[in-house]
Amino acid sequence: MRRILVTGALGQIGSELVTALGERHGTENIVASDIRMPAKGAEPPGPFEYVDCTAKRLVDEVVRKYDVGTIYHLASLLSATAEEKPQVAWDVNMGGLYRVLEVSRKNHCAVFFPSSIGAFGPSTPRNKTPQDTLQRPTTIYGVTKVAGELLCDYYHQRFGVDTRGLRYPGLISYVAPPGGGTTDYAVEIFYQAIRNRRYTCFLGPTTRLDMMYMPDAIKAAIDLMNADASRLKHRNAFNVTSVNFTPEQLAAEIRAHIPDFSIDYEVDPVRQAIADSWPDSLDDSAAREEWGWQPDYDLEAMTRDMLVNLRKKLKAD
Ligand code: NAD
Ligand code: SER
Repeated sequence: MRRILVTGALGQIGSELVTALGERHGTENIVASDIRMPAKGAEPPGPFEYVDCTAKRLVDEVVRKYDVGTIYHLASLLSATAEEKPQVAWDVNMGGLYRVLEVSRKNHCAVFFPSSIGAFGPSTPRNKTPQDTLQRPTTIYGVTKVAGELLCDYYHQRFGVDTRGLRYPGLISYVAPPGGGTTDYAVEIFYQAIRNRRYTCFLGPTTRLDMMYMPDAIKAAIDLMNADASRLKHRNAFNVTSVNFTPEQLAAEIRAHIPDFSIDYEVDPVRQAIADSWPDSLDDSAAREEWGWQPDYDLEAMTRDMLVNLRKKLKAD
């Protein structure tokens, strides 16, 4: 088989996607790459290459060296970091995607592009946001996600590149920490609940957002890339979701396992404004109809599994 390249592979998604792809296709066939070097003891199971995705030569070299046929392009700045460094966010998020698409056009690679709930803005319908709707985000992250969706669709229509994407909600996981997003509170809360029995949340108690447990996020990416192309009416990018809650509801669910856990709030105005510009919930019926999307984890199952695995990782009681 032609190999699979994962950019930004040392991040929150990549750390688990590389393993999952390796289990399906053989670790030697999955090339992990990042602008950081792997920490000792946390090396990816297969080959690793330093690749700055904004450098076309580096992307091109690694694609040719390994005969890559599919690229999961994860390298990006997330919403909160991007708002601190908008110029860098444009260079990495748009420049990186453009390089990956150009290399894919020339080398006949398929491309997975993760978009986000951040691709929507305050004028988007807030509840059960439809698949096809108004997208006028007010963050640089959202601007790069909408532009990225359009660029991926353009490369498909104009050059026949097999581009496919998901609009992920906030992702919750225990393997690698989140990389500077607005939804990071929903991961931090688990670490603090186990370590300190208390958490100070940077979003307000009633901030409602869609979220997803990482095993579902990985399954969605792989299932979409394996889906029958003739069934896809959409490509970039599908709404997907599995759980929906506010910080106070997540705290209550954690309290069912850790009764003395407490939460208080010190709202960060920047991240709160970002969260307030995003939908309360997404309608993911197009993904369900066109490629059979179906999550495995609800809030209860996710919370239980997170606590079990994080306690093991942190060697906590
Ligand atoms: P992350 O921040 O954890 O990882 C991103 C990785 O990209 C990092 O390891 C970083 O070193 C690397 N990187 C940064 N600049 C690079 C460059 N120039 N060249 C190569 N690598 C570079 O992010 P993540 O959570 O794994 O997200 C991956 C993708 O999924 C991003 O596009 C993100 O927008 C999207 N997404 C993530 C979430 C989420 O909640 N995690 C939700 C929606 C969408
Ligand atoms: N979890 C991501 C973020 O907060 C959503 O794209 O940036």
